[in-house]
Amino acid sequence: MKTEQVKELILQALEHEIGGVKVYTAALSCVVNGELEEEWTKYLEETRSHVTRLKAVCKAMDLDPQQDTPGRQVVRHVGGALVDAMQMAKAAGDAAAAELVACECVVIAETKDHLNWELLGKCAEHMKGSGADALQSASEEIEDQEDEHLYHTKGWCRELWIKSLGLKAVLPPPEEQKHVKTAIGAARAQQAADNAR
Ligand SMILES: [Fe+2]
Ligand SMILES: [Fe+2]
Repeated sequence: MKTEQVKELILQALEHEIGGVKVYTAALSCVVNGELEEEWTKYLEETRSHVTRLKAVCKAMDLDPQQDTPGRQVVRHVGGALVDAMQMAKAAGDAAAAELVACECVVIAETKDHLNWELLGKCAEHMKGSGADALQSASEEIEDQEDEHLYHTKGWCRELWIKSLGLKAVLPPPEEQKHVKTAIGAARAQQAADNAR
């Protein structure tokens, strides 16, 4: 395994979780649906804990959590752009439209978050030396949460869009009711929603 690239991934993941706290804070200022607000409030807390866990991984690996890299700057830029997009939508004054923008922004952010933890899990399997245990236990705990963040928010995004189109929406989405945590489970949940229309 290439140690420098593993460090790059950890620093990008940390930057992304820091940005994630800002993304969820902005998304919560746009949310209308009470159940989605409850979900995102939980995800915000989990995202905060991911920041803490990754800082601990850095410490265990003797990696400076403040160290900046070009890749990390890109992650920060994209996170800031997502926050800007939500603020722009909110300022336009249509609450339902801003909620849809927030859903899309969370899906974009959680797609990278999900990838990061999938990759960190693979790194943990192959890692030796200091930091291996910290990364292993963090990824075991967090990968499941990231599945939920991504698949459930994708379900909310799809169903709230469908509702906005005047079509029959399934709310809360089946991903939520079925506690989906896998890609195949998410595909089945979408199928269930389509069958219900
Ligand atoms: Fe996360
Ligand atoms: Fe997440």
